[in-house]
Amino acid sequence: NEMLSWQRTSYHFQPQKNWMNDPNGPLFHLGWYHFFYQYGPNSAVWGNITWGHAVSKDLINWFHLPIAMVPDHWFDSEGVWTGSATILPDGQIIMLYTGGAADGAQLQNLAYPLNLSDPLLLEWVKYPGNPVIVPPPGMKDFRDPSTAWLGPDKKWRITIGSLVNNNTGIALVYKTTDFKTFELLDGLLHEIPGTGMWECIDFYPVSLTTKDGLDISAYGPGVKHVLKVSMAVGMEDYYAIGTYDPINDKWTPDDPKADVGIGHRVDDGKFYASKTFYDQKKKRRITWAWIPESDSESSDLLKGWASLQAIPRTVVFDTKTRTNLLQWPVEEVESLRSESYDFGNLKLEPGSVLPLNIGSATQLDIVATFEIDNEALQSTVEASVDYKCSTSGGAGSRGVFGPFGILVLADELFSELTPIYFYISKEPNGNAKTHFCADQSRSSKASDVAKPIYGSDVPVLHDENFLMRILVDHSIVESFAQGGRRVITSRVYPTKAINREAKLFVFNNATGVSVTASVKAWQMSCAEMNPFPPKGNDL
Ligand code: FRU
Repeated sequence: NEMLSWQRTSYHFQPQKNWMNDPNGPLFHLGWYHFFYQYGPNSAVWGNITWGHAVSKDLINWFHLPIAMVPDHWFDSEGVWTGSATILPDGQIIMLYTGGAADGAQLQNLAYPLNLSDPLLLEWVKYPGNPVIVPPPGMKDFRDPSTAWLGPDKKWRITIGSLVNNNTGIALVYKTTDFKTFELLDGLLHEIPGTGMWECIDFYPVSLTTKDGLDISAYGPGVKHVLKVSMAVGMEDYYAIGTYDPINDKWTPDDPKADVGIGHRVDDGKFYASKTFYDQKKKRRITWAWIPESDSESSDLLKGWASLQAIPRTVVFDTKTRTNLLQWPVEEVESLRSESYDFGNLKLEPGSVLPLNIGSATQLDIVATFEIDNEALQSTVEASVDYKCSTSGGAGSRGVFGPFGILVLADELFSELTPIYFYISKEPNGNAKTHFCADQSRSSKASDVAKPIYGSDVPVLHDENFLMRILVDHSIVESFAQGGRRVITSRVYPTKAINREAKLFVFNNATGVSVTASVKAWQMSCAEMNPFPPKGNDL
């Protein structure tokens, strides 16, 4: 079926077939980026989970390697679930992961490479003394150990998520020196009532002063700590920025009020179980994330695969707003840019749509800048009060100052289209608020796919234009506003706007303001996803 095979991506990481979910244990070792992932080898539906494995020199082109770990011991017989890597100062690699046991227990296990001098890390050994951590009495949901960090007492710490009192999400902390015996600390790193099970907790430092990433054990002046939790209820990733006290192993959010909940979405769209790692080659922190499908299980079975990984993103502290992170596609993705198209100084009157003729618009990198008439914005007092991307009618609903933006994966007749746009509202006190939205409501004629409208408000500082970057790759659209202050990942399944029929437009659907747009677009080449083994000269 042409439509279903069209949905496969050309430059996002995905296994050759079957099911994938969370990123696991990303690391850089002897010149290779290693990527492990939750892999269901028998079907496009979750089950019998193993660790898939791939390596890359640049985070974009990949070699698929043999499965690294399968359920073959009593302590992981129901599945080798999510885990994280820690690289010790002497170069040893520690892998901690959750094993599903036959009796339903969630156990934390240790694994390590058989041969550290193998750049491909093909063989993994499970520690015979596993499990290294069993659940505290009465705790059932208890999984996804984090990367370990070193405290001032020279002991390693990890955090593991759980829930107590039915609905309080918690981050437990364990200390260890040898990764074989662990001590549970009395207090919690953090907890929030009403947030449910915290999966895949990620806890890491960010620098307040440089664009460099920080290795996991950094703390002290000029450093803040990010707590990221994946909320099982609703499958959404959240983060907050705060201060870590390494003596008492407590983390305090900068903004306790906003952080009840917690803090910001990592991505306002489809994006889950994200995990960062420190890339010692380029001194940056990079996040991966599982991008689930938004279609039906029966479509996945027909396609023979389900899920993608997001293009890896660098993560830094936003030194301008000081309240959020900036996420940006790793620079290596730009190596796929081929023909480029430049559309400068496009004047868009209220209610206009312009085609951008670039040929087939299925694999693109797009950078767009929008300027609006500032006088009109200043002189209007109140507009679109209470606007919300998800509930205010999408791109078809017009206001004085929006929507304006880009239509991706649209056919000529607009029978299918996915608008990515800004929408400015003005509150009764005269403050302007910018919303960044992705509207899937008309993205597909198919009836078995979810078509939500995603988005939230994004800080636009007084000296800034409205900026967006969009990566389009068949059935995925990743949209970044204001240099990555907000990100929205969409899964879209057009039936008409495919192949040569997929086109690109720029639009201004505001009623009260003209917009000047500049759009640069690149066709994106396919990334290499090579089967094992790599050719000798690639090593
Ligand atoms: C998150 C998750 C983890 C678990 C894994 C199992 O998506 O549910 O909590 O370890 O997936 O595949």
